[in-house]
Amino acid sequence: MIIGVPKEIKNNENRVALTPAGTQELVKRGHTVYVQTTAGSGSGFQDDEYQKAGATLLPTAADVFAKAEMIMKVKEPVEQEYKLIRKDQLVFTYFHFASYEPLAKAMLESGAICLAYETVERADGSLPLLVPMSEVAGRMSIQEGAKYLEKPLKGRGILLGGVPGVKPAKVLVLGGGVVGTNAAKIAAGMGADVTIVDLNLTRLRYLDDVMPKNVHTLVSNDYTIREEVKDSDLIIGGVLVPGAKAPKLITRDMLKTMRPGTVLVDVAVDQGGCIETCRPTTHEDPTFIIDEVVHYCVANMPGAVPYTSTLALTNATLPYAIRLANQGWKKACQESQELRLGLNVIQGQVVYKAVADAFNLPYTDVSNYLA
Ligand SMILES: NC(=O)c1ccc[n+]([C@@H]2O[C@H](COP(=O)([O-])OP(=O)(O)OC[C@H]3O[C@@H](n4cnc5c(N)ncnc54)[C@H](O)[C@@H]3O)[C@@H](O)[C@H]2O)c1
Repeated sequence: MIIGVPKEIKNNENRVALTPAGTQELVKRGHTVYVQTTAGSGSGFQDDEYQKAGATLLPTAADVFAKAEMIMKVKEPVEQEYKLIRKDQLVFTYFHFASYEPLAKAMLESGAICLAYETVERADGSLPLLVPMSEVAGRMSIQEGAKYLEKPLKGRGILLGGVPGVKPAKVLVLGGGVVGTNAAKIAAGMGADVTIVDLNLTRLRYLDDVMPKNVHTLVSNDYTIREEVKDSDLIIGGVLVPGAKAPKLITRDMLKTMRPGTVLVDVAVDQGGCIETCRPTTHEDPTFIIDEVVHYCVANMPGAVPYTSTLALTNATLPYAIRLANQGWKKACQESQELRLGLNVIQGQVVYKAVADAFNLPYTDVSNYLA
């Protein structure tokens, strides 16, 4: 198969979808890999390393899109890329369709096959291509939250871990999945007083078992969250309903009950956010303030630590990419239930129920394409 890796162009996005090591694995199996020049440089991988691994460099994204049967990206295509994607081309990347209708419409019009990293799902319900980035974003959410709690950055001026004789900060983590667990682990390690809320009691039991003593668990409901936000210093949004828009657990009216300088980090912003007042921000201008509450809502948090993120992402995507390249998308998705669940859009039809529901679009069962 001919695989194309364009350079990411979203604001401050320095990740790349394939490393030189991944390139070598694909080339070794007889595939052709085209990489846009400097695509890996933001992550510390230089053009000559890709060439040594067997890739051919192309100067522009248009060249890469024109040649490739499968495009591997990191972030969802942005407007300049819409017109480069063509009928029957396989695009393997994060899409987060439910949070942005123009993207869904553009991909439907393109006639491409959109296989979304975030909905590839194992039999146990885990999301293997979301996990590595959630690990990064969860850990980073505390690093960023701690920074914005500093007074010069408009926070409450509280040190996360406190000091002997002074209480630590209170961290509320919404969602005890991968983001939430990684956030809680780092916050607890820094000495904060941490509470995780989740709907899933089994998950809370597990977290109660494995987390240190300064992590508490609570069942998620509106009443409890209303009470908790009043004296929390840092609130992390990490809930997910796979493929759907995130539920709004923090509503506008709750902001007035929070202390001035409270920091909200809505990691779930890429699925529409679980904090009503959040809107996507960028690494260049990551925060805004409403009712004296600091909002940090960067939609591509792992983009700020591209070295770690690129390696973590490609560790997870490569086995799937090899399978798609070896077998073609149809056969690979016939044989792999995990990959089949990644199919969101096929040749102008939505084949993922939650995406169709989000925009009232007609839904077609994926089996119609795989028979
Ligand atoms: N902003 C970024 O850069 C970035 C990076 C990585 C992941 N994310 C996003 O972070 C979000 C969380 O990802 P994850 O991997 O942790 O998902 P996950 O599936 O591992 O965890 C989500 C958790 O939310 C819980 N949940 C669902 N509804 C809830 C509710 N009403 N109240 C409390 N808990 C509820 C689930 O039970 C689950 O435990 C996703 O939207 C993901 O796309 C964003």
